Amino acid sequence: MEKTSRFELEKWAGTSDARAEMAREVRAGLSRAPRSIPPKYFYDEVGSRLFDVICDLPEYYLTRAERALLERHAEGIVERARPRTIVEIGSGMARKTGLLLRALCARVPSPTYVPFDIAPEPIAASARALLAAHPTLRVRGVVGDFARDCSRLGGGAHVSNGPRLFAFLGSTLGNLDEREAPALLRSLAGVMSGHDRFLLGVDLVKDPRVLHAAYNDAQGVTAAFNKNVLRVLARQLDGELDEQGFEHLAFYDEERQRIEMHLVSTRAQVLALQAADVRVTLSEGERVLTEISRKFTRDSIEWTLSLGGMRPLEWIAADDGAFALCLARTARGDGG
Ligand code: SAH
Ligand code: TRP
Repeated sequence: MEKTSRFELEKWAGTSDARAEMAREVRAGLSRAPRSIPPKYFYDEVGSRLFDVICDLPEYYLTRAERALLERHAEGIVERARPRTIVEIGSGMARKTGLLLRALCARVPSPTYVPFDIAPEPIAASARALLAAHPTLRVRGVVGDFARDCSRLGGGAHVSNGPRLFAFLGSTLGNLDEREAPALLRSLAGVMSGHDRFLLGVDLVKDPRVLHAAYNDAQGVTAAFNKNVLRVLARQLDGELDEQGFEHLAFYDEERQRIEMHLVSTRAQVLALQAADVRVTLSEGERVLTEISRKFTRDSIEWTLSLGGMRPLEWIAADDGAFALCLARTARGDGG
C-alpha cells in the first residue's frame, strides 16, 4: 500500500442483493418482447478486456476520433471549465482521460480524478497508470451503476471545494435509449453545481457502411464481446448456455439512427438460468437484443441534453464529421 494513499476505491455496487437484482433484471429482459439482456452485464473482467481490444481495431474509429479531438482541445476545455476535479462516468480503461488530466494537473496543485464504472478491474488498472504518469494526482474510484448511483456523486467526500468537470466519453450515452439517456443526464444535472461542466463524447450519424464495419470487425472481437455476456449469465445465474448456439448480429437501422447488436439463436433451444428462475424457449433465428448504440446529429444531441436538464455551451466536431465533443452545463440558473 502507498503511504500517501493516492488511490481509493469505493464500492456502491456488489451488495448482498446484487445477484438477486441481476436475476430480476435478466428475467424481465428475457421474458418480454423483444427479448433483451441488460448491457451492463457485458463488463466482467473478460468483457472489459475485450472492449479494450475493440478500441484498437482498425474498423472501430470511435476511440481514435475522440482521442484526436482531445489531443487538440483538452487544454482549451479544461481552461474553460476550470475544474479542480474530473469525474468520469463509465470510465473503463480511461484511455483518453490522460489528455484531460494532464491539463488539469498543469493548472491546479491538488487535482482529483473520480473514475466511476460498474467494473472494478479497469478502474484499478487505469488508476495505476494515471498515478504513475501524474505525481500530484489523487484517484478516488467509485464502483457503481450510473443508472442508479449518480445521485451519490453529490454528497459528502465527493463534493470538492471547487468546480468539477464531468466527462462522459466514448459515446456511451448512445448505449442508452430515448428514456434512459435523459434520465441519466438529469441525475447528473442534479448533482452538478452551476460552476460544474459536462463533457460529452458523441458518435455522429454517418455512412452506414462505416458504422456497420465498426460493429462487425474482421477479427471477430466484437462478436466475442457480444457472446461473452452469455458466459457472464451462465456463471452468475447458474445457467447452461451453449455459446455455439448463438451468433453475433449487428446492423445499422438508418431510420432509428442506431446500431442494434443481437445474439441470434442458431437453433431451437432452451435458455435456462436456475438462479434467475428463467426457462425460455428460443426458436431458430430468434434474436436477443444485447446493445443499442445510437448515433447523433448536433440537433438530436442538443435535444437529448435539453431533455436531461443540460444546456450546451460548445460544440467541437471532427473535420470529417465522424465524432464530436459537446461541453455543457446544467440548465438551472445558479452560479457559473
Ligand atoms: N469511457 C471509456 C469506456 C467506454 S465502454 C471509453 O471511452 O473508452 C463503456 C463503459 O461503461 C465500460 O467501462 C463499462 O464498464 C461502463 N458501464 C456500462 N454500463 C454501466 C453502468 N450501468 N454503470 C456504470 N458503468 C457502466
Ligand atoms: N459506446 C461505445 C459504442 O457504442 C462502446 C460500446 C458499447 C460498444 N457496447 C459496444 C462497442 C459493443 C462495440 C460493441 O460504440
